[in-house]
Amino acid sequence: MRQSFSVPLASVTRSKKVLNKYERPLAINLYHRSFLKKAMLQIAQRFQESSLWGLLVVRYLLSWIWFVMFHVGRLVMDLEFKSILITGGSSGIGKALALALVKRRAAREGASKKMTLILTGRNEEQLKEIKEQLQSMDDPTISSTYPLQVVCKSVDVSDAQAMKNLLQTMDNKYELDLVIANAGVGEMTIDSKEYWSASKDFLSINVLGVLNTILPAIKNFQDQLVRRAQRPHIAVIGSLASFLPITHDAYSASKCAVRCLCDDLRPQLRYWAIDLTFVAPGFVDTPIHKSKKNSDDGKRKTNPLPKFAFVTAEQAALFILDGLEQNLPFISFPKYLFIVSWLFGSLHPIALSFLNRYLLLQRFKKKKQKLKVTAEQFSRFILRLQIQMITRSSN
Ligand SMILES: NC(=O)c1ccc[n+]([C@@H]2O[C@H](COP(=O)([O-])OP(=O)(O)OC[C@H]3O[C@@H](n4cnc5c(N)ncnc54)[C@H](OP(=O)(O)O)[C@@H]3O)[C@@H](O)[C@H]2O)c1
Repeated sequence: MRQSFSVPLASVTRSKKVLNKYERPLAINLYHRSFLKKAMLQIAQRFQESSLWGLLVVRYLLSWIWFVMFHVGRLVMDLEFKSILITGGSSGIGKALALALVKRRAAREGASKKMTLILTGRNEEQLKEIKEQLQSMDDPTISSTYPLQVVCKSVDVSDAQAMKNLLQTMDNKYELDLVIANAGVGEMTIDSKEYWSASKDFLSINVLGVLNTILPAIKNFQDQLVRRAQRPHIAVIGSLASFLPITHDAYSASKCAVRCLCDDLRPQLRYWAIDLTFVAPGFVDTPIHKSKKNSDDGKRKTNPLPKFAFVTAEQAALFILDGLEQNLPFISFPKYLFIVSWLFGSLHPIALSFLNRYLLLQRFKKKKQKLKVTAEQFSRFILRLQIQMITRSSN
């Protein structure tokens, strides 16, 4: 017996009745009696009755129109930044970004428009050096009359109050278009070598340092949104390590926190016409891969990875600038490393923990450290197990 449904098509049978356009989709499955299909039919009927089909189609079309406009818009978009603040501008990627920004702007505008660069870091000497280098650049594209203003400020990003004051005064004075939260430390450049205090340093510089930079900037942008000539932009320099936690210290965790923070903030900032870009570089050949001090054997430790895995700081700066000018929400380079990190990073956590353990063992092997357990450690471990068992059974 065929069951009838409470749909307008209930009377439809296998007879060759000509179905109208509303009846056709429902009639196809009318003979099937499984629960799921019945439920789907009911849902389809409700949609049909309340004309939601029409709405869905309109929404689908609108999303395509938005998609096309967004991408075409991005292709023709060519943002120009006139006042830029870069934290960690005294070295590596920050320094290369400053040089690339000046070169690009000078090549485009000549001496017609003024540009202000605000560079921050802790090392005053290095900041002075880069200021001199920027103002006397030996490059034919930059004329001596190019109106460039370089402001260097020595400030620690983990000092929230100092960063707030800096961003407020700089924004009020120069009306910032772009704030790049780049300052960060890695395994080699971190001051503390003891595991837990190193983790704290990673979090206070790489995470709180970023927050101390971008939150006051956002506050200022929101307060003075109406008088601004251009949509303000924020860029956060993260890392590909944010996808693949295999650094065996808190570096990945710090970068991962920053990435999630950006993903959370970005849609909210859109309401204020503020753009946010997260940058995930792979390996860039900068001082972050070289320890600051000599180790016990009198040598400086460097990252043992082969040279081909690295891009130069200049290449990295160009990748970042191109992405920022197109207003991309996410920039990553080199592409192959992004794909590898993304694929491995999306493994099941158990598989990832095996991979991580394997890599850690390889690291120990390379350092010729042996994971030996002494007799005392072993007996302590057994004792702890016994205590646990006793307390559990007494409970
Ligand atoms: N190089 C890479 O392979 C790579 C890969 C992925 C991500 N990144 C990220 O890119 C960013 C820049 O790294 P880099 O390679 O250019 O390293 P870098 O050459 O060591 O530069 C780090 C910059 O951060 C500044 N800095 C560090 N701690 C600071 C603090 N507490 N307060 C203020 N400034 C501070 C340093 O300035 P002072 O020394 O003057 O304090 C320096 O200018 C970092 O966030 C890093 O995590 C780098």
